[in-house]
Amino acid sequence: MAQVFDRSSNALARMSLVLTGLIVIALGVALNQLQRSPWVTKQGQRPDQPIPFSHKHHVEGVGIQCQYCHVQVEKAAYAGIPPTKTCINCHAQIWTNADYLEPVRQSWATGASIQWIRVHDLPDFVYFNHDIHVNKGIGCASCHGRVDEMPLMYQENTLQMEWCLNCHRNPAANLRPTSEIYNMAWTGPSSDKPVWCGSTGKGGATANAVNCTEVDPNKAEVKPASFETGASSPASYQKFTSQIELGKYLTAQYHIRTPNELSSCETCHR
Ligand code: HEC
Ligand code: HEC
Ligand code: HEC
Ligand code: HEC
Ligand code: HEC
Repeated sequence: MAQVFDRSSNALARMSLVLTGLIVIALGVALNQLQRSPWVTKQGQRPDQPIPFSHKHHVEGVGIQCQYCHVQVEKAAYAGIPPTKTCINCHAQIWTNADYLEPVRQSWATGASIQWIRVHDLPDFVYFNHDIHVNKGIGCASCHGRVDEMPLMYQENTLQMEWCLNCHRNPAANLRPTSEIYNMAWTGPSSDKPVWCGSTGKGGATANAVNCTEVDPNKAEVKPASFETGASSPASYQKFTSQIELGKYLTAQYHIRTPNELSSCETCHR
């Protein structure tokens, strides 16, 4: 064989081995990138919906609350998409001739649901529920972004495992008073904008357990609503000027599990 393959072809063989190696690595990197790419995660895409429904117009413009349409979000795993009846409540009177709304009228006339295309869709092997997140002080905007500013719905975050874990390892960074769940613009307390919270002594791990206000309860001329009803007024309030302090306090009040427990595989894969 020595006559056929001389020294230079030996070098060539080695070269091609190195090259193959490089190609394999490059492919691996590309696949990994692909797996995280918006093309796979669907992050940021706006699918063609049967009706170009605008959250911006309905939430920011008309001022409709999330829970008017997503009625299940505090009580069930699924937030739910509103039935045609919800649209008809208003659109029997408003914009009755708009072409855009033809599918709504059709659906109402025939009883066939509007075929909305899902924007967020976790794989079936992942367990997720809305009620626990919302009742433990995670706002819609922490996961879905500024929905009130979206002319068309899109997925703000990757919804990949790393993204979930990132919060489960340090939930305090995102915890807010449950009264602020639907507040799309909530930014957390600061020294210019403190938040006061107090335990209502009611026990339980959710909304009833703690009451927060952005009006100084010790000075305010106008007392927070809870003072008037007297239903669940805390005996004393604590002042918070940073998200870290507030997050630590709420972690204890809401009885949030440890990062270890929240990151264990069984939490999300049952
Ligand atoms: C007037 C009714 C209405 C209101 C109010 C409303 N939504 Fe929606 N929402 C819909 C409809 C209809 C869809 C399905 C069409 C779409 O995806 O745009 C939807 C879809 C969504 C989706 C995506 C669902 C999917 O397919 O993954 C999210 C997230 C969402 N809404 C969050 C919110 C939040 C947060 C608020 C409050 C800031 C809100 N919505 C207020 C009607 C409403
Ligand atoms: C509480 C009343 C109310 C409900 C409920 C409601 N709408 Fe509307 N909708 C409005 C008003 C008011 C406008 C006009 C907004 C504007 O011009 O800024 C509008 C406008 C629209 C438009 C025209 C384009 C736009 O976004 O401005 C579409 C399409 C539409 N709505 C679809 C829907 C669908 C689908 C539903 C049910 C999921 C729904 N609406 C539920 C009040 C409502
Ligand atoms: C902890 C993150 C998180 C929070 C907080 C959250 N969502 Fe979601 N939302 C998701 C995920 C993840 C999905 C996809 C669920 C699936 O595919 O099973 C989703 C799906 C939805 C859907 C589609 C229908 C459904 O239930 O699958 C709607 C509507 C929705 N969210 C509305 C809301 C509203 C309104 C709020 C605030 C009250 C909210 N979400 C808070 C993560 C969140
Ligand atoms: C912004 C923060 C945040 C994000 C993002 C988040 N979670 Fe959570 N999750 C929480 C908090 C806070 C709790 C409540 C912990 C407690 O009560 O101990 C929780 C609890 C849970 C639970 C426990 C439910 C139960 O009934 O025991 C599951 C399951 C879960 N999350 C799944 C997910 C999945 C899947 C994702 C990603 C698609 C996700 N979470 C994203 C903050 C988050
Ligand atoms: C906070 C929720 C959460 C926890 C805790 C969690 N996972 Fe996941 N896991 C997810 C989500 C969400 C996906 C889907 C990701 C996607 O669609 O890209 C996933 C996907 C996976 C996959 C499929 C491959 C992939 O990466 O897409 C495997 C395997 C997996 N998880 C294993 C584990 C193991 C092992 C643990 C414990 C060490 C664990 N997971 C803990 C949420 C979680």
